[in-house]
Amino acid sequence: MTHSNTLTLFLPDRQQMQSLGICLGQILTPGSILMLEGDLGSGKTTLVQSIGEGLGITDTIASPTFALIHEYPEGRIPLYHLDLYRLEPLEVNELHLETYWEGIEVPPGIVAIEWPDRLLDWPDNYLHLLLTYVDEGREITFTPYGQINWASICNNLQLSGLVC
Ligand SMILES: Nc1ncnc2c1ncn2[C@@H]1O[C@H](COP(=O)(O)OP(=O)(O)O)[C@@H](O)[C@H]1O
Ligand SMILES: [Mg+2]
Repeated sequence: MTHSNTLTLFLPDRQQMQSLGICLGQILTPGSILMLEGDLGSGKTTLVQSIGEGLGITDTIASPTFALIHEYPEGRIPLYHLDLYRLEPLEVNELHLETYWEGIEVPPGIVAIEWPDRLLDWPDNYLHLLLTYVDEGREITFTPYGQINWASICNNLQLSGLVC
C-alpha cells in the first residue's frame, strides 16, 4: 500500500480525539517526536493525555503549561510532555530540549511538544500534527518529516478504524 505524505482526520468529539491518542500511545516507537500545533483549546493536551492512557500510564497527565515539562516513565515507553507556550524562543534554546530526543541522558520515548513554534532548532525526524477547529469538532493533519515509520502509523490508524 502506498501512503500520501499527509493524513487528515476529522474528530467530531472529544471521545474520538481520545481514541486517536490511545491508538498512538499503543503504536508509536521510542524516539517519536510529536510537534503539536493548534490554537488554545484545539485539543493538544487532550491528545497527549490519551497517548498516556494508550501507554498504560495511570498517573493523571496535567496540562503542563505551568510546569513546562512533565516526564512519565512508567508506561510501555516513557512519555515526555512539553508545553512551550509561556516561553520566548531564546529561553527555549537555553533549556536544551534536544536532551529529550537524543536519548542519551534520558531513555528514549515519545516526546510531545505543544507550541513547538517557540523552538529554534527542530529535530530532523518528527511527526507534525496540526489541530484545527472544524464545526463542533476538530480536524487533525499529520505530516511526517525525515525518517518516520509513516506507513506503519497509517496502517495502524487504519486498522483502528479511525481512518475511513
Ligand atoms: N473533537 C475534540 N477533540 C478534542 N477536544 C475537544 C473536541 N471537542 C471538544 N473538545 C474540548 O476542547 C478542549 C480542548 O482542550 P485542550 O486539550 O486543553 O486544548 P489545547 O491543549 O490545545 O489548548 C477540551 O475542553 C475538550 O473537551
Ligand atoms: Mg494544552
